[in-house]
Amino acid sequence: MEKLLYITANPKGLEKSKGLKIGEAFLESFQQERPEVTIKKVDLFSLDFPQMDADLVSARGKLAGYGYTMDQLTDIEREKILKMHDLANDFISYDYFVFVSPMWNLNSPAILKAYIDNLFIAGKTFAHTANGPKGLLTNKKAIHLQTRGGQYTGTPMEALESGDRYLKIALGFLGIEVRDSVITEGFDINPVKVPEILAKGIENAKLAAKDFAHTPALV
Ligand SMILES: Cc1cc2nc3c(=O)[nH]c(=O)nc-3n(C[C@H](O)[C@H](O)[C@H](O)COP(=O)(O)O)c2cc1C
Repeated sequence: MEKLLYITANPKGLEKSKGLKIGEAFLESFQQERPEVTIKKVDLFSLDFPQMDADLVSARGKLAGYGYTMDQLTDIEREKILKMHDLANDFISYDYFVFVSPMWNLNSPAILKAYIDNLFIAGKTFAHTANGPKGLLTNKKAIHLQTRGGQYTGTPMEALESGDRYLKIALGFLGIEVRDSVITEGFDINPVKVPEILAKGIENAKLAAKDFAHTPALV
């Protein structure tokens, strides 16, 4: 049975967030196409997950750099790294990933990067090989639904965008096939056009969901 993980990074809630509405439309369309796929929703602003603090950085260094075993870590280091591994193991069990986030200060909300930091585990999600790093999460696919207040596509601002770009690079590094993102932009510079921009975003998301639901992962 295939599974989809729906990850949102917006504290505004469904009523106020345009991006979350676009995300719901995507999910609805996906579910119509693939009712047998199980969906789990994760709101990063309510999820309790490990942060890269001193204990975790130390544990990571000891395990990856110095060949320590789990029982050679301090109790707190072990507790935190096991939580990180649990989160990564759960993530690995999914086949589809949908990320929904707004652009904040040219990037994604920091909480999304903090979550992704839990997934970079050598030997589990990627491997060091003679030819460089190799992603191990193959046969999975992801898509990013991003909203923006300004207009970046087709403008000199385009090169400044770092959130969608980072997410694609990070997931691609782990071996996940990342489909083209659904970008809905210009919300804050065109307040009177919000309903129109939102409707277009929802339409694009529904179309993308049909493609996402039916095109198999390349690897
Ligand atoms: C903290 C913060 C930073 C923001 N930075 C940007 C930005 O750099 N570029 C941009 O186009 N919009 C920026 N915005 C606007 C949001 O991207 C926009 O309002 C949002 O994507 C609309 O979708 P939502 O209703 O789902 O939140 C920012 C908004 C916030 C709250």
